Order: sequence, then C-alpha cells, then structure tokens
Amino acid sequence: MRRTAVDDGAASSRRDKAEPAPLPAPLRTARRLPRWSELRPLLRPRPLQFDPTQRRLSRALTIADLRTAAKRRTPRAVFDYTDGGAETETSLRRAREAFARVEFQPRVLRDVTVVDTTTTLLGRPAALPLALAPTGFTRMMHHQGERAVVRVAQGAAIPYALSTLGTTSIEEVAAAAPAARKWFQLYVWRDRGAGKELVERAQAAGYEALILTVDVPVAGARLRDVRNGLTIPPSLTLGTVLDAATHPWWWVNLLTTEPLVFASLSSWEGTVAELINQMFDPSLTPRDLSWLRESWSGPLIVKGIQHVEDARMVVDLGADAVVVSNHGGRQLDRAPTPLEVLPAVVDAVGDRAEVLVDGGVRSGADVVAAVALGARACLVGRAYLYGLMAGGERGVRRAVDILTSELIRTMQLLGVDSVTGLEPAHVRLRP
Ligand SMILES: Cc1cc2nc3c(=O)[nH]c(=O)nc-3n(C[C@H](O)[C@H](O)[C@H](O)COP(=O)(O)O)c2cc1C
Repeated sequence: MRRTAVDDGAASSRRDKAEPAPLPAPLRTARRLPRWSELRPLLRPRPLQFDPTQRRLSRALTIADLRTAAKRRTPRAVFDYTDGGAETETSLRRAREAFARVEFQPRVLRDVTVVDTTTTLLGRPAALPLALAPTGFTRMMHHQGERAVVRVAQGAAIPYALSTLGTTSIEEVAAAAPAARKWFQLYVWRDRGAGKELVERAQAAGYEALILTVDVPVAGARLRDVRNGLTIPPSLTLGTVLDAATHPWWWVNLLTTEPLVFASLSSWEGTVAELINQMFDPSLTPRDLSWLRESWSGPLIVKGIQHVEDARMVVDLGADAVVVSNHGGRQLDRAPTPLEVLPAVVDAVGDRAEVLVDGGVRSGADVVAAVALGARACLVGRAYLYGLMAGGERGVRRAVDILTSELIRTMQLLGVDSVTGLEPAHVRLRP
C-alpha cells in the first residue's frame, strides 16, 4: 500500500502490522534419483497364492466377506436356504439391527496385554464364549459338511451341536472329532420311538448335552426356498441344470461324494417345510420336556426361548441352560429380538441356569456385547456356514479365527482382560 503524507505514526504502525507479508519464493524440494539400496527393502511382493481356496479365504477379513465368497461359490437355492429367513425376514433384520445399536462403553488405562477368552459352558471349559449352532442339511452347503464343522470345533475347543436334520450320522460326527465337545440337537418327531432311539445313540456316542429345539411346532414360511423351488435332495430342473454351468464344482462334489440324505431319517423327498410339517410333532407340551429330562441324564439345553415366563418354566422342569433364540429369524417373523430379550431372561433364570443367545451374530464384537449383557455364550449358525460354503473346513476355521480375533481386539479396546470381566455397564443399546 502506498503511504500518504497525512498518515500519523500510530496509524502507520497499525497498518504495518495488518499488512500481509510479501509472499516468499515457492518452496523448492530438492529431488534426486533413489538408490537401489534404498528401493530394495521396499520391494515386498505378496507371496503368490496358488491355492484358490486359500487365496479366497485369506482375502476374507470379516464374516461379511465370507458371505460374499459363499454367495459366489454355491447355487442360488443353497445360498438362499442358508442366508434367508421367514416371510418378510423382519426377525432376521431386527437381530442385526439390535447388534448395530450396541454402543460400547470402554474404560481406559487397564492392562490388556493378555486377554483371557476362556469360559465354562455347562460346567466344562471352553476356549471362547462361543458354540457352533445346529444347522440342518450342512452337507448341502459343502460336501465336507458336519465333519468339517466338528473338526474345527475340536481344534478351537468350543462345542458343536449336531442337528437332528444333519446329513452326517451321530456316530460319523463323533468319529470325525473324538475329542470335540459335542451336543446333539433334538426335534421331537411324531414317532416318539424314533426320537428316543436318536437320544440313546447320542448318549452311546459320547455326546455331552442334548439341545431340545422348541420353536418349530410347524415350519416357518421361508419364501426364498419356495421361490427357488428348493427340494431335498436338490431336483434336476432346467434351472438347476443351468446353474450347474456356473457352479460346476458344487455339482461335481454333490454327485461324486456320498449321497446327500438326512442321516437320521430313512429317506425323504420333498421340501424342507413338507418334511417338518409331516415329521415334527406340533402337540409338544411341558410334559414332553419332563419326559426328556427323565430319559437324558446329561445337561439339557432348551433352544428357542423368546419369553421370560417360558425360560422360568423350562428351568423349573429341569433345563440346565436355555438359548434365547428365534431360530435365526427362520420361524416366526416379527419375533422378539434375542439380544433385547436376553437381559430379562438372565434376570429371571441366570442364577439357576446358563443363558445362551443366538441370531444375527456376525462378529466377535457381537459376542462381546451379548456376553456383557449376561449371555454365557453365543451360538453362531450362518457365520460358520458362510465359511463352509466359501471353503469347506478351512472356511469354517477362517470364520472362527475371524470371530476370535475380533473378540480379543474388542475386549482390549474395551479395557477388559477376561470374559468374566464383561458387564452390562460395558454396553448401551442406543434407542
Ligand atoms: C441353514 C440353517 C439351518 C438350521 N437348522 C437348524 C436345525 O436343524 N435345528 C436347530 O435347532 N436350529 C437350526 N438352525 C438355527 C440355528 O441353530 C441358529 O439358531 C441360528 O442359525 C442362529 O442365527 P444366525 O444364523 O444368525 O447365527 C438353522 C439355521 C440355519 C441358518
């Protein structure tokens, strides 16, 4: 700015302060050619992964990634059978939304160098507050089926529950992983004699606990299965033959391994809903639970509890544990959301029985939240089935590894160094 003759001294000094300094010359960065000795240590090409399954699995960082891989690997009807829920799938969606509403309340300045993830389930040690849920028709997802799942459970030192609708027999599963903690999940057939025989076989094969599933008086309406025309065993229709072109390996495995049948049923041809409605007994009452309590001497778990009073009733009748569950949203649509029902059930029966929960668990952080809210452990179904579809036994192991590392990291970030240290104060459910 140009000065005028009338400027007094003070005004000129004020203006001097306000005046922007002249722009300095642009900053010049001296450049040079890098030396080879500097470049060499930076060159770290990823090791070539020739095994496509390993490549696929190592790229999966989350259960959601495994789900994406699973979707690519399996025929649509198979993926939908696993992934889907009943009717509008609202129960399923709400289960996930409840976990999304979790807000952790971390504490700081706690030594979390070492985290103890162990707990006890039914009075025996488990490496994680986690069990692999019973899922029917597991060999349809991948030919390695239940054997793969129980072997991973054995390696991870967590329990695995074989379903009545399993596709590998009680004895074969036991032989595949003799040291695994095995639970047998029972659906009560109309033919009580057949059910009793299954219970006796489970006991003889060393299964530790019995899970009675009580939320399937009739089949839920899984509309994806109806739309896809899913039958068991899968039918060869124009659609499935065309699908074979895009999923050849799934079909090769199906047709060149042992026939895909229910291991606990002599034979079945039809839809899952037809099977359930024909074979399952909708007339079950508390008396049947008392009968089972008398016939099974080991721990008894009742799965499918959605009401506090039902939790009280089954524990009064001798259940050692309950699973707060709506069957992963595959039965009653718009059912209570397990994570939301959990605290009231823990309040009601937690001092007399173990309370487990399932439905929508897709990360180790979900497990941490559920345990903080009072669950002894979570069951996971789809999480390991996505792994199974993505890569057989290695995929199931990847799923358990993902859940484990997420669980440990979340506990560390939460300032908690043991599963027993998780408390309701660590979690708030945002409105
Ligand atoms: C494909 C599939 C099959 C299932 N089959 C059974 C079964 O035979 N018996 C049973 O008690 N629950 C069964 N369930 C329910 C699971 O045990 C568990 O309650 C549910 O998967 C938990 O929800 P999540 O899949 O979101 O983890 C099944 C679930 C899926 C996804």
